[in-house]
This record gives sequence, C-alpha cells and structure tokens, in this order.
Amino acid sequence: MKTIVIGVSGGIACYKAVEIVNQLKKDGYNVEVIMTKSAQEFVTPLTFKTMSHNPVVTDMFDPVREWDSKHIDLAKAADLFVIVPATANIIGKIASGIADDMLTTTVMAARSPVLIFPAMNTFMYENPIVQDNIEKLKKLGYNVYETAEGDLACGDFGKGKLLPWEEIVKIIEEFKR
Ligand SMILES: Cc1cc2nc3c(=O)[nH]c(=O)nc-3n(C[C@H](O)[C@H](O)[C@H](O)COP(=O)(O)O)c2cc1C
Repeated sequence: MKTIVIGVSGGIACYKAVEIVNQLKKDGYNVEVIMTKSAQEFVTPLTFKTMSHNPVVTDMFDPVREWDSKHIDLAKAADLFVIVPATANIIGKIASGIADDMLTTTVMAARSPVLIFPAMNTFMYENPIVQDNIEKLKKLGYNVYETAEGDLACGDFGKGKLLPWEEIVKIIEEFKR
C-alpha cells in the first residue's frame, strides 16, 4: 500500500485538507498526517486522526510517543509527501532550510517527491519574497502548484486560493515521478 504523508500548515484552507485525507484513505492509501502548531488552531488533530485512521503527528518532542526519530521514519515511509495547504511561512521555511518543527524537519529528510499546494491571501501570494521562495523550491525539484483565482476567505478577490480539493486528489493520485 502506498504511503502518502500530508503536511498541514496553518491556513484557513485546512478544512479542505480534511476532505483530501478522507478521499485518499477511501481510495486505499495509507495516509499519515503531520500538523503544524498553527494548523491545529484551524482543525483538530482528532479530525485528521479519524479520517486517516492513523495517529496524527504534531509535536517533535512528544514524551508520550515511543518513537524517537518519527521524522526520519515518516520521511522514509513516504512514497509521496504533500503539503496542503502550504502557508507563506512554511514555503519560506522550507526554501530557507529551516527545520524547527515536525513538518519542516520531516520534509527536510524526505527523499520522495514533494508536492506543495500554496494557499494564502493575494497580497501575500504576490509578495516577491513568497514568489522568490516558490521559484527557488521549483528549481530545487519541489513540485509547487499554482493557486486558483477567486473569492478569498478574507473578502479579497484574486490569486492565492487553494485549488479545489478534488483537483488536488487527482494530481496526487496521478502523480508520476
Ligand atoms: C484566520 C487566519 C487565517 C490565516 N490564513 C492563512 C493562509 O491562508 N495562508 C497563510 O499563509 N497564512 C495564513 N494565516 C497566517 C498563518 O497562520 C501564520 O503565518 C502562521 O505563522 C503559519 O504557521 P505554519 O506555517 O507553521 O503553519 C492565517 C492566520 C489567521 C489568524
């Protein structure tokens, strides 16, 4: 069975990642979810645990867990690593080589293809720093996808909207190395 690691960072589109995990699980994948601290402000780990049927990884230094190198185990287990939604922050951290939480540390160790689906306010998305980081990641072989254009949760209209979740599932399932 293929393992897909889903990294969820803290944007309003987190609830759409729930649908993605649900669909991938239904389609027969082993889905492992890693959430950033901010992501847990939007959706609880319990929701992802229920949808993925796996414990959700949230903390680098969780004393309750038995593993001591879960980030490496997950990175090795991943056939595909997907970050959805990807915040401006997580994109910047990955592009800068920062590994200061479970998600950024695990993606740093990943050997599988990494698919990144950005979602943020238009002004954030069009910020040259964000665009530079996206270009840098693309040059390094990360698969960074376009955003959709439309009404954003904050009331603005423009780029930065997460692609429809059904489209993301299709991209993941049809992804060829
Ligand atoms: C209501 C709300 C919605 C947010 N939505 C987004 C978003 O869609 N995209 C984004 O890049 N940041 C968004 N943020 C800001 C991030 O949560 C913030 O930059 C955070 O540090 C991201 O942390 P993470 O990348 O570790 O998950 C939002 C914040 C709030 C309060």
